[in-house]
Amino acid sequence: MIQVGKPVSGNEFIGREQEIREIITYLKIGQSIVVIAPRRFGKTSLILEVIRRLKKDKYFTGYIDVFAHASLDTIASSIISEVLGNHGLKKAYVKSKGSLLKMFKNIKLKAVIEDFEFILGMEDNEYDEWTSFSHSIDFINDFSRKSNKKIAFTFDEYGDLMKFKKAQDIIKLMRSKIQKQEYATYLFSGSYKSVMDSLFVFNKSPFYRLTRVINLSYLEFNVLKKYMKKKCLEFKVSYNEN
Ligand SMILES: Nc1ncnc2c1ncn2[C@@H]1O[C@H](COP(=O)(O)OP(=O)(O)O)[C@@H](O)[C@H]1O
Ligand SMILES: [Mg+2]
Repeated sequence: MIQVGKPVSGNEFIGREQEIREIITYLKIGQSIVVIAPRRFGKTSLILEVIRRLKKDKYFTGYIDVFAHASLDTIASSIISEVLGNHGLKKAYVKSKGSLLKMFKNIKLKAVIEDFEFILGMEDNEYDEWTSFSHSIDFINDFSRKSNKKIAFTFDEYGDLMKFKKAQDIIKLMRSKIQKQEYATYLFSGSYKSVMDSLFVFNKSPFYRLTRVINLSYLEFNVLKKYMKKKCLEFKVSYNEN
């Protein structure tokens, strides 16, 4: 009757209207955001809804779940495929990965690669993962600039970056790049308050004052109640106000 497990979307998504509006407003003025709340509070669901609405407004978007990645290499190629997705090239890129020939067969993809030669370098294993990653962060902004579009890019479960060997260097690199990017705004999320505070909130944090902090709370009670009532009716389950 009520979906649990996966992030929810569409009709299953309830409430959070105020948070959605707030986040979208900030992102649109170029203010990056960090959403902090324990696991299963609804961060990913909220973020995906924000992305859905931004897409409707013709914004470029991108989404990476840091938790799902074990290396910087895969993060770098996911960033590229997410960014390319805004030109309908995600599938083509993912499918032709590992074969330059295939990449060049797609005319649109070929044009992108001609503008951004580092993608070839990555395919040729010319770079270490650090260099690929660094290029991919530039790509978020540069590709959007080229298309004259603003992009909102998400790093979900950003605190998970701490599992990487050179975590502090990665974070410093991202900060110094992101600060200068004019076409990109970022949406970070994280579940572990102490980790997220040390990255975003404390005055010695690398992202201190670079992002607006949103501490996500429980779903609003009345919204949840209304939804439960509706679901009970729908499934003919007797409903008791108490
Ligand atoms: N806005 C919402 N409306 C309805 N259900 C939600 C909402 N947000 C979260 N949930 C429920 O909570 C679960 C966990 O949400 P998720 O977005 O994955 O949380 P997080 O990313 O914080 O771990 C979802 O599978 C869903 O059942
Ligand atoms: Mg999540």
